[in-house]
Amino acid sequence: MGKKLFPKIDALLHGCDYNPEQWLDRPDILEEDIRLMKQAHVNVVTLGVFSWSVYEPVEGEYHFAWLKEIMDNLYDNGIYTILATPSAARPAWLDMKYPDTLRTDSKGIKNLHGERHNNCMSSGNYRRLVRAMDVQLAENFGRHPGLIMWHIDNEVGCECWCDACRSRFQEYLRKRYDNDIEKLNKAWWTTFWSHRFNDFDQIDPPSGRGEKKLHGLNLDWNRFTTWNTIDFLRNEITVFKEKTPGIPVTTNFMHLYPLLDYNKIAKELDVISWDSYPRWNTAEESLYETAAGNAFDSVMMRSFKKDQPYMLMESVPNLVNWHEYNKLKRPKVHKLNCIQTLACGSDTVQYFQWRKGRGSYEQYHGAVLDHLGRSDTRVFRDVEEVGGMIAGLSELQGTLTTPRAAIIYDQENKWAVEDAAALSKKTKKYPQTCMEIFNIFMKNGVDVDLISSEEDYSGYDVLVAPMLYLLKDGVANSLTEFVERGGQLVATYFTGYVDKTTLCYLGGFPGDGLTQLFGLYSEEIDTLYPKDKNGVKFKEDMLVQNTFTVKDYCEIVKVQDAQVLAEYTDDFYAGTPAVTVKENGAGKAYYVAARVDNDCMEMLLKRIWQEKNIPIQYLPEGVEYHKRENDKYTYEFYMNYTSEPQTIHSGGRGKDILTGFIVDGDYEIGALESIIVRREK
Ligand code: GLA
Ligand code: ZN
Repeated sequence: MGKKLFPKIDALLHGCDYNPEQWLDRPDILEEDIRLMKQAHVNVVTLGVFSWSVYEPVEGEYHFAWLKEIMDNLYDNGIYTILATPSAARPAWLDMKYPDTLRTDSKGIKNLHGERHNNCMSSGNYRRLVRAMDVQLAENFGRHPGLIMWHIDNEVGCECWCDACRSRFQEYLRKRYDNDIEKLNKAWWTTFWSHRFNDFDQIDPPSGRGEKKLHGLNLDWNRFTTWNTIDFLRNEITVFKEKTPGIPVTTNFMHLYPLLDYNKIAKELDVISWDSYPRWNTAEESLYETAAGNAFDSVMMRSFKKDQPYMLMESVPNLVNWHEYNKLKRPKVHKLNCIQTLACGSDTVQYFQWRKGRGSYEQYHGAVLDHLGRSDTRVFRDVEEVGGMIAGLSELQGTLTTPRAAIIYDQENKWAVEDAAALSKKTKKYPQTCMEIFNIFMKNGVDVDLISSEEDYSGYDVLVAPMLYLLKDGVANSLTEFVERGGQLVATYFTGYVDKTTLCYLGGFPGDGLTQLFGLYSEEIDTLYPKDKNGVKFKEDMLVQNTFTVKDYCEIVKVQDAQVLAEYTDDFYAGTPAVTVKENGAGKAYYVAARVDNDCMEMLLKRIWQEKNIPIQYLPEGVEYHKRENDKYTYEFYMNYTSEPQTIHSGGRGKDILTGFIVDGDYEIGALESIIVRREK
């Protein structure tokens, strides 16, 4: 079990984005960089993320000598390179000469040159120029002994409304609907408002100037954007697969990025990496709550490729410059943050960036080294300490987390839920709903994956599918099979209303056969105002608590052959079923018809975990837990985000690999401290 991302390196990675091209006139600084990187235990840097204007200052004239010298130097000093392709930002000459590379906004206005992340993904010229650049990089650096990975583009993402994108969208639709416009008309229900099309070439991308209320169109546009981005990335990736087949590729993902379906992009990559910038130490939430949000993102990254670790490609040791309030990380928080990253399954901790630039937009963005240029700063010492710690944790390399439960968080479903003209614009909160359920798992120390609805469920015993409004082909079947072979499934209100084209199921929600699985159908759904009150009351007397509050949504269901566990307490539907369960084959399908409070969901999940023998941890409030393992050992991480020592019940005898201390039974973890308990299997 387990897979090392970089077998030739016998360590976890600790490093940063490094932009030495901004300092080529300061050899003293470049020299100092290497000295201080070694001091900070940096063993990897990402080079070249936005280097196009230095690589190719004039079309066809390539300047790589500086890069070679720096990569050599780094390698001689034990520092590996992740080499980025520069396609996320373009030199001015390129935009001037090839204006089709510039993005067009939804009002049809073409951007001017400037900023970054603003190319058109369909532009033939851009694809050609990027490929030519990538060929140069592969040929010049593909065999460099220090090169460990290609980093394609940077935080890729875009929508563009230019003519080329419009035609490609029409082509995409032609394929999707078998070149049959009637199929599309049916799927998009275009007879409504007289929106029928006679031909694919009449279809515009959705925009504020034209159509944006056709759900089928909106969803297909989102799908197209992902498809077109993948096509753009493939244009780059194939260069490296051809020329340097042994070198893996990645691109860095972002926090809940709204425009792309990362699940699909993940399949194009060898390694998952992402950029994490939580707002630590805000007044609005506790440190633990911020950490829980970051855990959700991290676990999503881990779940994209379950058989290997992910990478934290960017983070910051102190502060960013683009939050509304850019607050410093308080002492000890950086280390906690890094341990959490490892706990959630990363094999790297990397920062943006090594050294603050002197000018332009990110001059005040946090970095390992600032304008002061000294290594005796609080931040440098934090990084140095974390670097030392990471250097001592190489045995974690390639270890995995193997949850027996998963929450379905599906990007296409998110798009459809958010676009549906239903419920309340204010309280749909699909991601937040998934996060709250994730937090219940976290609070109980139960590791869980976050997966799309198309994933293989066979490795899991428990599945939670909150608000699975849109059912892709085959999903209802997979859910049914999952339950029949013994799995326990929890679904909620707003499940199975539409198929993959956003057409409503006829004859009862949840559709596509799920009414049988749950033994009920939904008749109406009530949206509650924030001041409305309702609740659910469980029928069993044995429960510690049997009445719970609900908010936002109450679905009114008719039970056919499910067992009613709880009923509504108020309103005209008081006494009707609110929580049900139906046994199917060897498993159970729960239906939670209302947005119940977290205590209620926790009570249900505890019952399910117990039935499936999934152990829970008795964690003090503010302590996070995760487990990684390989064939020989388990590694259990406990992070205390509170400002008091906390006692955990650690289980049997093990060793904290951070301190070397023996851990046996109850163990006290200091304020803002962590332990990683290793046990032989
Ligand atoms: C992103 C980018 C970096 C940098 C950081 C700043 O993650 O990838 O180039 O701009 O943001 O936080
Ligand atoms: Zn375009």
